[in-house]
Amino acid sequence: MKKNKVVIVGTGMVGMSYAYSMLNQGTCEELVLIDLDKKRAEGEAIDLNHGLSFAPRKMKIYAGDYSDCKDAYLICITAGAIQNEGETRLDLLHKNTKIMRSIINEIKKSGFNGILLIATNPVDIMTYVAWKLSGYDKSKVIGSGTTLDSARLRYTLSERLDVNPKDINAYVMGEHGDSQFVAWSYAFSGVQPIYQIASRKDSKINFSDLEEIEDEVRNIAYKIIECKKSTYYGIGMALTRITKAVLDNENSVLTVSSYLNGEYNQDDVYIAVPSIVNKDGVREVIHLALENTEKEKLDNSIEIMKENISKLDI
Ligand SMILES: NC(=O)c1ccc[n+]([C@@H]2O[C@H](COP(=O)([O-])OP(=O)(O)OC[C@H]3O[C@@H](n4cnc5c(N)ncnc54)[C@H](O)[C@@H]3O)[C@@H](O)[C@H]2O)c1
Repeated sequence: MKKNKVVIVGTGMVGMSYAYSMLNQGTCEELVLIDLDKKRAEGEAIDLNHGLSFAPRKMKIYAGDYSDCKDAYLICITAGAIQNEGETRLDLLHKNTKIMRSIINEIKKSGFNGILLIATNPVDIMTYVAWKLSGYDKSKVIGSGTTLDSARLRYTLSERLDVNPKDINAYVMGEHGDSQFVAWSYAFSGVQPIYQIASRKDSKINFSDLEEIEDEVRNIAYKIIECKKSTYYGIGMALTRITKAVLDNENSVLTVSSYLNGEYNQDDVYIAVPSIVNKDGVREVIHLALENTEKEKLDNSIEIMKENISKLDI
C-alpha cells in the first residue's frame, strides 16, 4: 500500500472540488481519477496537472481505472446522482445504492485494503451500504457525515460572535440531512460555552438566535441548490480535511459518519458523531453525555436511517 496515494471515484463537481482542494493543499503525492465518463476524468487530470507549478508539492495526477485502487491508502467515493431542486438527500437513496454496488464490486476486485471515504448522498446510509457490501472493517469505512454542516455552523457562529471560525468548537450531529441537530450543550466559542454567552444580557446572540442558526445550517444546502444547482466547494474542503486526518495520522476530532456499536445505546448504523480520525480510519467514537432533548434528536435521526436501510436490498 502506498501511504500517500488517493483515488477519487466520481469526477463531477464534488470529486473535482476535492481534487482541486487537495492540489492546493498538497494533501497527497499520487492522485488517481476514476469516472464512468473516462474522457471527463482524463480532461480533469490534464487540467489539474497544469496547476502543479503553483502547488505546494509535487504530485502525480492521472485518470485511471479500478486496477489503480489496489495499492491506494484512501479511496473517496463522490460518484452519484445529485439532489435536484425540491428533492431531499433521502430521495437519492435507490439511485445511489445501485451506483454504490457497482463501484464497491470493482474496488473489492482490485484487492484494495485501505480506508474508504464516502461522500455520496444520502451519505450516512451510503456509508452503511458501502460497509455492508464491501465486508471491510467498520472503522475503515467512513462517511463525510456532518463535517460540512459543522463547518457551516462554525462559520455562522463566527460571523455572529465576530470570532475566528477556528476558535468555534461546535458540532452538528445526526443525519447529514433534515433531522440533523446542533449539540449546543457541547458548543464553545474558545473557552466559553455558547449557552453561557447566549444567556448574557449584553451578548451578541440570544437563545432564539441559536434556534435560527441551527435552522439556517440545516437548510442552507437547499438555498445553494436553488441558486446554483449543487454544492461542492465546502464539501471538497471537508473531504480534504478528513483525508489529511487519515494520511497524517492526526487523531483529529471530526463529525464523520461512524459505525455505532453500543455507543449512544445504538448499534448497526452509521451516523455523524464526533469521532477521532487517524491512519486506521475511525479510532474511537466519542460518546457524549447529551442532554435528553439532544439524545432524542439523535435517536430520531438513527430511526430514520434504520427505516431507510431496511427498505434496501443489501
Ligand atoms: N456528503 C456531502 O456533504 C455532500 C455534499 C454535496 C454533494 N454530495 C453528493 O455527492 C455526490 C456527487 O455530487 P456532484 O455534484 O459531484 O455530482 P456530479 O453529477 O457533478 O458528478 C457525479 C459524477 O459521478 C459519476 N458517476 C456516476 N455513476 C458512476 C459510476 N457508477 N462509477 C463512476 N462514476 C460514476 C458521473 O459520471 C459524474 O461525473 C451526490 O450524491 C451529491 O448529493 C455530498
